[in-house]
Amino acid sequence: MQGVAIYPGSFDPITLGHVDIIERGLKVFDHIIVAIAVNTSKVAAFSDVDRLHMIEESFAHDRRVSVVSFQGLLVDFARQQEAVAVLRGLRAASDFEYEFQMAAMNRRLNPDLETVFMTSRSTHTFISSTLIREVSAMRGDVSEFVPEVVLKYIAKRYA
Ligand code: PNS
Repeated sequence: MQGVAIYPGSFDPITLGHVDIIERGLKVFDHIIVAIAVNTSKVAAFSDVDRLHMIEESFAHDRRVSVVSFQGLLVDFARQQEAVAVLRGLRAASDFEYEFQMAAMNRRLNPDLETVFMTSRSTHTFISSTLIREVSAMRGDVSEFVPEVVLKYIAKRYA
């Protein structure tokens, strides 16, 4: 597939699981816009600006990746960006129900926008931002699971 895909999420913080989906997504799409949802019902542990900087620093070497924050509906943002697809990762069957519902709702809201799923690498299936936050808050070592640039943000947040 050619064109731009949106990879939306909370990225609170970005993990190596996310990085893997973006890198593999670039084999399919020309450009990926990593879109950080702000002002959702979720209260983020990291500020909007820090979440943006963590992803920008992780992909500073790759011009095919851009990072933006968005508010409001994903389908509206995707239309503004002229994206051909939304990219999402699936780690396990437990992700499926929620992802299926979101994809179905987004398709109702914009029938032209496809959702493309990539299954995560087996070595990444257990990595989640939620667990990264929990382990970090209890001073555990998460260096295996997040991009190196993220570690300084974690150190600052959980100092
Ligand atoms: O990383 P997450 O928290 O699983 O990402 C969820 C996200 C941001 C993709 C989803 O909540 C979203 O698309 N939010 C934007 C608002 C929206 O369009 N909601 C309707 C989704 S059907």
